[in-house]
Amino acid sequence: MPESPNILPTTSQAKPCAIVIFGATGDLTARKLLPAIYNLTNDGLLHPDTVVVGFARRPKTDDEFRQEMLKGIDAFSRSRPVDKALWEKLAAHLFYHQSTFEDAQGYVSLAKRLGELDKQYGLSGRRLYYLSTSPTEFSTIVGHLGEAGLGNIDPFNSQAWRRVIVEKPFGHNLKSAHELNHQINRVFDESQVYRIDHYLGKQTVQNLLVFRFANGIFEPIWNRRYVDHVQVTVAEDIGVEGRGGYFDTAGTLRDMIQNHLMQLLTLVAMEPPVSLDGDAIRDEKVRVLKSILPYTPEQVESLTVRGQYVRGERNEKAVIGYLEERGVSPHSQTETYACVQLAIDNWRWYGVPFYLRSGKHLKRKGSEISIHFNRAPGVLFNTPQRGTGANVLTLRIQPRESIGLQINAKRPGTSATVTPVQMNFQYSEAFGSYSPEAYERLLLDAILGDSTLFIRRDEVESAWHIIDRIEESWSAGKPPLKFYAPGSWGPDEADQLLRKSGRSWDELPQ
Ligand code: BG6
Repeated sequence: MPESPNILPTTSQAKPCAIVIFGATGDLTARKLLPAIYNLTNDGLLHPDTVVVGFARRPKTDDEFRQEMLKGIDAFSRSRPVDKALWEKLAAHLFYHQSTFEDAQGYVSLAKRLGELDKQYGLSGRRLYYLSTSPTEFSTIVGHLGEAGLGNIDPFNSQAWRRVIVEKPFGHNLKSAHELNHQINRVFDESQVYRIDHYLGKQTVQNLLVFRFANGIFEPIWNRRYVDHVQVTVAEDIGVEGRGGYFDTAGTLRDMIQNHLMQLLTLVAMEPPVSLDGDAIRDEKVRVLKSILPYTPEQVESLTVRGQYVRGERNEKAVIGYLEERGVSPHSQTETYACVQLAIDNWRWYGVPFYLRSGKHLKRKGSEISIHFNRAPGVLFNTPQRGTGANVLTLRIQPRESIGLQINAKRPGTSATVTPVQMNFQYSEAFGSYSPEAYERLLLDAILGDSTLFIRRDEVESAWHIIDRIEESWSAGKPPLKFYAPGSWGPDEADQLLRKSGRSWDELPQ
């Protein structure tokens, strides 16, 4: 049987190109980007002539840069130990370009160097610029790329392209996101801009669309008539891990909910797209965001919870409180936990609450989406534990990718005891443990020119429109910040939010 088209058409080998990483001495390059490039090369998906140029301000030789990247690959690559022959080939295509982001000359010399590499490796003007810097640098870099002519394409070269990957956060609020997008779009057309959200590179997230639209049995019940509510959880069991300086200006609402969780919500809630074309999918995602009712200050107070972890202990080890983290203001009111109840005001989801929560130093690490269906009428098997009886479909994104369905079964024996049990599908059992890292998938897609798994300008701005209303009230202290112990599930108020309507949060598995 022919395989149906899917949203993962990335089996072809990409043509050689230059990948220029701005902020190449930062954590992301060694932890994620170079391991991803190494694995893509190892899998034969990147052309062996692909060239990587690290652009950063610290003085460094090509060789020093190569050694640092080797350490990163050695520590973080999914396939290890490092293959010596493969590494040597890759290292010969790795270069370092030293400049500050503000120095226009640095871009002029970059243009010259890229021109030479282009000829040497037959890159035909294919260039991917990766902005892996602090967001405050984005406009400066893009502006200089424009001035140095690095955004332009020779109109007589049909092989050439220029693309730019932008790391989150895309702005701090709607206004700054709008300005940033405007700056970027002055140099790059929207079709050249790839805003990355690494959650969209995760396999289970992509499988959400396959799950919803390639199976006949779920779509008829995927609506307000059958669904009681939806929960989206992204829980972390670590703190801010040395990123206090950045995190304190962002908080969980901006760092996680505005992007990763809102993206998950759109994929769960969207209508079937007219095709699997990137824009068709993103059109539907934007429609969901536009249907979310922006809150009044009173609604923010009653439908959201913000929390901050205090000093405590987990696994018998002391954990410092958020206010003691390096880079965090000692009086900070920044939330490390956020929970919001959202309403999608459209035909499919009218009246169905969507609960989103994310936090640091929670009891366990885990990301999952659960669809809670309406309970069966309680006339025959009404159990004393009402509330355990609903069917729940859980899509687990990490740490173990799986899909589970909670159903009710009769406990063996003479009594008619009804007990919830789990039907489980584990990805690793069905397909083995091979699972490319999110950054592998996304880098390759950008090189192949497939923007489906990247965020379009209107998606970012529509998400900020909702988040801004919540931030406005939160920054005025409404509702007040609550505190929670490391290793807990966050503030009690988050439980109360669901309890008000007789619901409760799912317990994430061990
Ligand atoms: C990042 C956030 O986008 O996602 C981090 O900035 C967070 O604060 C991380 O820790 C979580 O990603 P993952 O893939 O580990 O769930």
